[in-house]
Amino acid sequence: MNYDILKEVNKVYKKENPSFYTKITRKNLSKLIIAREKLLLNLKLPKKIFQDCTLLDLGSGSGIYSLIYNHLGAKTELVEYEKKFIEQSKSLFKKFAINPNYKISNIDIFKYKNNKKFDIVTFNGVAHHTQNPKKILSNACKFLNKKGFFIYGIGNKSGFFQRALQRLILYKISKNEKEIIKNAKILFKKHIQRARKFGGRTTDQIIFDTYINPKIDCQSTAEINEIFRKNKMNMYSAFPELNYSNLFFNKTINNYRNFNLEKKYKKIQKEIYLSEHEWLTSTNYLFNSRLINKINKLDLLKNNLTSEVNDKNYKNFKLNYIRILNIANQYKKNIKHFNKIKFFNQSYQTEFLREVIGLFKLLKKDNCNLKEIHNYLKEKKFIFKGTAGVGMNYYVGYKYK
Ligand SMILES: C[S@@+](CC[C@H](N)C(=O)[O-])C[C@H]1O[C@@H](n2cnc3c(N)ncnc32)[C@H](O)[C@@H]1O
Repeated sequence: MNYDILKEVNKVYKKENPSFYTKITRKNLSKLIIAREKLLLNLKLPKKIFQDCTLLDLGSGSGIYSLIYNHLGAKTELVEYEKKFIEQSKSLFKKFAINPNYKISNIDIFKYKNNKKFDIVTFNGVAHHTQNPKKILSNACKFLNKKGFFIYGIGNKSGFFQRALQRLILYKISKNEKEIIKNAKILFKKHIQRARKFGGRTTDQIIFDTYINPKIDCQSTAEINEIFRKNKMNMYSAFPELNYSNLFFNKTINNYRNFNLEKKYKKIQKEIYLSEHEWLTSTNYLFNSRLINKINKLDLLKNNLTSEVNDKNYKNFKLNYIRILNIANQYKKNIKHFNKIKFFNQSYQTEFLREVIGLFKLLKKDNCNLKEIHNYLKEKKFIFKGTAGVGMNYYVGYKYK
């Protein structure tokens, strides 16, 4: 396995990412525990299940999250190949651990062996910085016990799409790393401010994590699900939550809500149990194959679009703009097929795509520069606004066999 890029990433992390060295005090530890419990609840994992369970944290970094699981009662094992982080984890655990049952192993995940399996495996923020996210994920799944939970934190290709575009812009208009940092502060000022406010990272950390880090190879939910399935795991939960098209077609209560998105929930007087209409006839007539074909086509275009911009860095960011414009235009066109059913906000999506296409056209030009991009983005209503996609997605797999 070639770890060149990864080594490079870690070198920069050590040098420039002080989040790994943030001083932990009892006070900020309590805050971090509360935030993690909230995330776990969003993932439908009550904190009770951590009490006395065995937990493996692969690529544990500074060890702060392993420490939180230790506080929830888990017997925790940390696996990390960077010595510095191991030292940091050791001192953290010495100072703050509650459950004395813990082990800190300084080893590469690929070389790590253990006959014992774990009730919970966490694998957070690691895979997308490695050469082969699928392989390392498959490897990580092997350590999970039957009836155990696998907590996976990763950038999703769609969620990260807008950040991937921001990276492309910066690489196109900047001559070196210094300029990337300077231009990021100009173009994505609001995005960085927002990330600072809600994520607790400094500007430097955000710029490093999002724009400088040379390896961010995201995955799609389908890719993750496939690996889960191969490892006898079901998708148990996700955050942000997943909306499935089959749920939509089955028209459960959630999907009834989707029909009425624009009315806003508060205006809904009563709920209509569409299933009862089905039960009149006892037939499962709701399966509409033409519509499903259209959704499949749209999904394929979305996958192609997000894959085109995925995993680019300063040394490798060339795109085939003719192909990508073609895909983006087709995607925009195909959204129109769904103008009668609201399962996502098509008009918003179409406008957003229009802006993305305009941006690709600008980037295609050899002489595209900061001023032009700045002026273009200034007038836009949708692109890079709000959270600008989703920075990190969490998936929980449940091992049924
Ligand atoms: C972005 S950090 C995430 C740390 C931690 N899981 C968290 O959520 O904060 C990725 C960590 O994975 C570690 N790592 C990456 N590949 C690894 C491997 N093959 N074996 C062991 N550790 C690895 C890196 O050294 C780094 O500490």
